[in-house]
Amino acid sequence: MKKNLLVLLVAALSAFTFGSCAKKVAQLPLINGAEWIASDSAHINAHGGGVMYYDGKYYWYGENRPAKGFKSEAGVNCYSSSDLRNWTNEGLVLSVSNEPGHDIESGCIIERPKVIYNKNTGKFVMWFHLELKGRGYEAARGAVAVADKPTGPFRYLESGRVNAGIYPENMPAQYRTAQWSDTLTWWTPTWRKAVDEGMLCVRDVPGGQMARDQTVYVDDDGRAYHIYSAEENLTLNIAELDSTYTRHTGRYIRVAPGGHNEAPAVMKHGGKYWMITSGCTGWAPNEARMMSADSLMGEWTIHPNPCRGEDAKLTYGGQSTYIMPVAGAEGKFVAMFDRWRPKNLRDSRYVWLPVLFTPDGTPYLDWKEEVIF
Ligand code: GAL
Repeated sequence: MKKNLLVLLVAALSAFTFGSCAKKVAQLPLINGAEWIASDSAHINAHGGGVMYYDGKYYWYGENRPAKGFKSEAGVNCYSSSDLRNWTNEGLVLSVSNEPGHDIESGCIIERPKVIYNKNTGKFVMWFHLELKGRGYEAARGAVAVADKPTGPFRYLESGRVNAGIYPENMPAQYRTAQWSDTLTWWTPTWRKAVDEGMLCVRDVPGGQMARDQTVYVDDDGRAYHIYSAEENLTLNIAELDSTYTRHTGRYIRVAPGGHNEAPAVMKHGGKYWMITSGCTGWAPNEARMMSADSLMGEWTIHPNPCRGEDAKLTYGGQSTYIMPVAGAEGKFVAMFDRWRPKNLRDSRYVWLPVLFTPDGTPYLDWKEEVIF
């Protein structure tokens, strides 16, 4: 009798512990800045990334970074999740090439990959910033790849500077024909004025605009846009993509000329488009910036730093990469940041924060170490 009671007690106790454990597992928070371990028991290697929601699952795409150095030896990784907490490693979805001279030859630099789904073509389209092997950061190309499934394999299509031969829609006619001097000293007031008015943009019109830090965004009407740092990272461009999302239409605008914005991340809320960016200090964190517009093609208005609380001046040690809408939760967004570790880029960490809103609908962020979405 006593033995039976003991067995019952042990059974009840283990059921309780197991039950509460199972419940706990589902509710475990993400710890910002800690190692985020995926299904393969390794820290998630998806830096400068973005998340796409498709058919009930989130797909997180990001740079596969090596532990030493910064060059792309593998390509773009993908992880999938249905709860934004437990991630399955889907492996490399875009692989670098072993062919010498190939645009994405191993040793090139692939940064900030973002994937969007094209409802009309049924294809998944990946855009990324590409630097050619052995040429540092001088190529400054936008690159595109496509896949039939969210988990790839993505097929590399092409890369290049953007919208060659075309002037931005919002550049006044007199600046298109202005005679710029290429001997101006950087950062002098004369140089700054010339940059604001479009000196570097005009310089790059024949070969196309530079495209470094970047994101892509699909608007409510199904039109997609490529948003990238152009003009030596001094000015952002927003360029419309065609119906396949794999080419530019030629329509583009300059945003915040001379403002030195990198790491653009876009969301739409309350009928407005909001963009969070960083300044340009390489891997080191700086103060985030924010802009808003009634239309993606402008005009964009500059707002103060959206970050509040501890370490807000340094974006909590992070740099923006993407703003992800939470599926099925109107008005809920996750702002994603990278905390770079240049000595071991693979080990760079992530900071994901809920986007909060002031009563007038302006987005802001506050530091939180543990988050559950
Ligand atoms: C950062 C940029 C990163 C990477 C890095 C290289 O400013 O946001 O994507 O390009 O510089 O130093």
